Amino acid sequence: MSKADLIVGLQWGDEGKGKIVDHMAQTHDYVCRFAGGHNAGHTIVIGEKKYALHLIPSGVLNPEAKNIVGNGVVLSPKDFIKEMSQFENLEGRLFLSDKAHILLPYHAQIDQARERLKGDKAIGTTGKGIGPAYGDKVARVGHRLGELLHPEKLTAKIMEFFAINKPVFDAMGVEAPVESELLAELQSYKEVLSPFICDTTQLMWDILDADKKVLLEGAQGTMLDIDHGTYPYVTSSTTVSAGACSGLGINPKDIGKVTGIAKAYCTRVGNGPFPSEDFSPEGDRLRENGHEFGTTTGRPRRCGWFDAVAMRHAVRVNGVDQVALMKLDVLDGFDEIKVCVAYEFEGKEIDYVPYDLEDVKAIYKTFPGWEKTEGARSFDELPETAKSYIEALEAMIGTKIGIISTSPEREDTIVR
Ligand code: GDP
Ligand code: IMO
Ligand code: MG
Repeated sequence: MSKADLIVGLQWGDEGKGKIVDHMAQTHDYVCRFAGGHNAGHTIVIGEKKYALHLIPSGVLNPEAKNIVGNGVVLSPKDFIKEMSQFENLEGRLFLSDKAHILLPYHAQIDQARERLKGDKAIGTTGKGIGPAYGDKVARVGHRLGELLHPEKLTAKIMEFFAINKPVFDAMGVEAPVESELLAELQSYKEVLSPFICDTTQLMWDILDADKKVLLEGAQGTMLDIDHGTYPYVTSSTTVSAGACSGLGINPKDIGKVTGIAKAYCTRVGNGPFPSEDFSPEGDRLRENGHEFGTTTGRPRRCGWFDAVAMRHAVRVNGVDQVALMKLDVLDGFDEIKVCVAYEFEGKEIDYVPYDLEDVKAIYKTFPGWEKTEGARSFDELPETAKSYIEALEAMIGTKIGIISTSPEREDTIVR
């Protein structure tokens, strides 16, 4: 019986999970998504080609690997079908949980309406309907992919839901679907998706029992987790490693090695606290060097420095065995590199993440920079100051940095 390897984001998402999942997928039989929806954007560069994946596991780029979308995700059939159209011959190598929740266009309308009503308190969501879809799931008024196999019944349930909640939807300016159009829409989804919908919990057990090599692909990042992130400026799913169990129907003993993905600096997209954010031209330089614009929304990402305090929190919450340090090359050419080593909180210095990160101020240590790491493929090739930076980070977070990435390319990856 095998144990599944797990990839999780340790910051506010966009750490470079897609590149590492693709890298590791070369040696795995199955890649499985367990949380989130098409709010995720995982960019993978292979030679001249660049792929942006949202919900299809990043294993899809390895023709040998099979892909599972677990019950913990919310799936927009419309967007998923669009994403599927980039690939051929998916039958037999893509499996969708019948227990995953369906995200429909009205969820996106509600998401956007709520954001508008919040004004300057808006979360800065992707506007894709993630919060409302998970909200319906938890409120026990959601619908699962299995129901898509019976479009008439599902249409009737959704129409009834709109009838009951009419005053609320009217206040938000969200229109009820037209029954005949909704039925036609759901029927068209059924036609495309039904060959892929199955009991993925049983499938997970079968493949682990059969000793297959299984990789679990996290989305978003620890600081966006619904419980352990910067609430309420978070996403609506369990992004941390525990989410892999509930999101796929496996147990903690099924998990093997946990690889946490972190950038050599830090970014965040959307609103909410970010203690090590740099508003100076240095921050702009990080954005330009790192091409820090969202894969899903195109929004400029907020940029700042590696936060060792938040990272220790993430390492502990996820049970990280090794960190993959991404985008080291983006720091090339900086004279000095800052790291947030502690927070100032209520007049004291602290080394943990308090109740609300809004109340802290970053305390920095400065490291000497280097000229070039871009494209390096072995640790020995790195400049001495880059090696010292990495070793200092390891000491601060108490975890081995086992993988270092020096460009978007699959091959520009150092494995130690
Ligand atoms: P994910 O959501 O965690 O998969 O990350 P994204 O794909 O949203 O964002 C990471 C971006 O950084 C993508 O455009 C990647 O191609 C790119 N990237 C990944 N690793 C590296 C690296 O080591 N160096 C550079 N310069 N870019 C990288
Ligand atoms: P990947 O998998 C970065 C952020 C949004 C917003 C908050 C809530 O590519 O790392 P939502 O639409 O989920 O309700 O938005 O979460 N967010 C992400 N930020 N990377 C992501 O995914 C994200 N998915 C959601 O910007 O701040
Ligand atoms: Mg992303």
